[in-house]
Amino acid sequence: IAAAPIVVASNRGPVSYRRSEDGTLVAGRGGGGLVSGLSSIQRDAEGGAAVWVCAALGEGDREAARAAGRRLATGDTGGHQVRMLDIPPDTFAAAYNGIANSVLWFVHHMLYQTPLEPSFDRDFRVQWAAYEEYNAAFADAVAEEAAQGAAVLVQDYHLALVPGLLRARRPDLRIGHFSHTPWAPPDYFRMLPDDVAGQLLRGVLGGDRAGFLTLRWAEAFAACCADVLGAEVVRDGEGRAAGVRFEGRTTRLGVHGLGADGDFLRERAHRADVEERMAALRSQIGPGRRAIVRVDRTELSKNIVRGLYAYRRLLEDHPQWRGKVVHVAFAYPSRQDLAVYRDYTAEVERVARGINAEFGTEGWEPVALHVKDDFARSLAAYRLADVALVNPIRDGMNLVAKEVPVVSDHGCALVLSREAGAAAELGDEAITVNPYDVEATARALHLALLMDPGERAERTKRLAAAATALPPARWFTDQLRAL
Ligand code: G6P
Repeated sequence: IAAAPIVVASNRGPVSYRRSEDGTLVAGRGGGGLVSGLSSIQRDAEGGAAVWVCAALGEGDREAARAAGRRLATGDTGGHQVRMLDIPPDTFAAAYNGIANSVLWFVHHMLYQTPLEPSFDRDFRVQWAAYEEYNAAFADAVAEEAAQGAAVLVQDYHLALVPGLLRARRPDLRIGHFSHTPWAPPDYFRMLPDDVAGQLLRGVLGGDRAGFLTLRWAEAFAACCADVLGAEVVRDGEGRAAGVRFEGRTTRLGVHGLGADGDFLRERAHRADVEERMAALRSQIGPGRRAIVRVDRTELSKNIVRGLYAYRRLLEDHPQWRGKVVHVAFAYPSRQDLAVYRDYTAEVERVARGINAEFGTEGWEPVALHVKDDFARSLAAYRLADVALVNPIRDGMNLVAKEVPVVSDHGCALVLSREAGAAAELGDEAITVNPYDVEATARALHLALLMDPGERAERTKRLAAAATALPPARWFTDQLRAL
C-alpha cells in the first residue's frame, strides 16, 4: 500500500457499521458537522490520493476494521480510502466518552454547572492517560500512512495532541489542526488542570497551522496560548490574531467558515424519498398551519429544552397562534453512552409531552417531536419550514442554519443564536437571540411568524448565498493550499 500525500485524521470517519438482524455488517454514513465537511474530499481531484484515518466507534466498526486489514472496502466508505483504528475498547471509551465528550466538549461549549462540575480527581487522571494513548495510536497510524512531506489534516478536540506527537516523529510533514467546535476563553479554559491545559495547547501548536470556524474561536485559542503558556500572539494589519509564536516556532491561525454544500443539498432534497416525507409531514402539521422547524442531534449544547420553553411562552403570550402553528422538532440520539445525554433526551421528551398535554386539542398537536434519525425527513422539513429555530448555547458553526435557506421552498425566517459561529456570517439576515433568554426567543419566534412573505423570501435568498460561500470542497482545498 502506497504512502499518501494527504492524510486526514478524525475520531469519527465517513462510515459506521452495525450488525443487522440477519447477522451481516451494514455500512451507514457518519453524522455531525465534521463528517459533512470532510465528505467532499473524494470529489476534489487532489483528494484522490488522500487517506482518512479514524477510530472504530462500536462493535460493528471493530469487526469491520479487523476483517478489512489496513483499509476498509471503498464500496462502504463512499469512495474514500479509510483506515479504521481498532483501539482497545477501554482506552477508546475513556478517551472518547471520558475526556473528549465529558471534559473537552464541556469546556469549549461552556456546559459545566461550576458549583458541582468539574472536579478533576483520580478517575480523570486515568482517563487522561487513555486520551494520551489514543492520540498516540492516531499519530502512529498517520506516521505510517504519510508520504515524505505529506500534508496532514488533524480534526477536532479528540486529537489535540496529535500535531505535537507527529512533529516530534516526522518533522518532514506539514501539519494542520482544525477545530470544529468553539474554543473556550482563557478564564474558562483554565479550569482544566494546569499541565493538561498546557499539553492541549502545546499539542495543537505542534502543527504548522491551527484552523477555526470563526475569528472568535481563533482569538480565544490565541488568548489561551498567551495566558497559559506565555506565548506571543502575532497579529495581522487589522489587528486580528494570525499566529502564535512559542518556543521559536510560529503556528499560523486560519479562519475557514465551513459552508453548506448547495449543489448536493438541492439535488438530494428533490428526490422521491424527500417528496414522500414532505407529504407525510404536511398531513401531520395540518392544512393552513405554519411550521417552526428544528433539527439537531440531541446534544446538550443545542439548547432544545429552552427552545421548547420559548415555544410554550409563544403559545401562552400570543394565543392567536394556538391551533395555527406546529413545532416540528427533530432531536436525533447522540452520545447515548453518557448518562447526561440520556437524561437530556428524556427531558426533551418530557417537556414536549407537557406542552402537548397543556395546549393540544382534538385536531392539533402543538409539538411534533421525532427522535429517529432520518436525513430525507430532515430535508423535507427544511423545505417546508416557515421558521427555523437554531438556538445553541454555543456552537462551532451550525450547519442546519446554513442548510435550511439553501433548500427552502418558499422562504424561511431564521431564528439564530448569537453564540453559534454561523451568526458571524448570517447574523444580518437572521433574527438573532441570546440562547439563554427564553422570553426573547419567544418574541423572536413571534416576529419570525409575522415576517412578510416577500421579505422572508428575500432574506432567505441572501442567507443561502452567504451559507454556500465556502462549500465543503473549497473549505478543504483552502486549508490544503494554506498548508
Ligand atoms: C461535532 C464534533 C464532531 C463530531 C460530531 C458528532 O460536530 O465537532 O467531531 O463527530 O459532533 O459527535 P459524535 O460524538 O457522535 O462523533
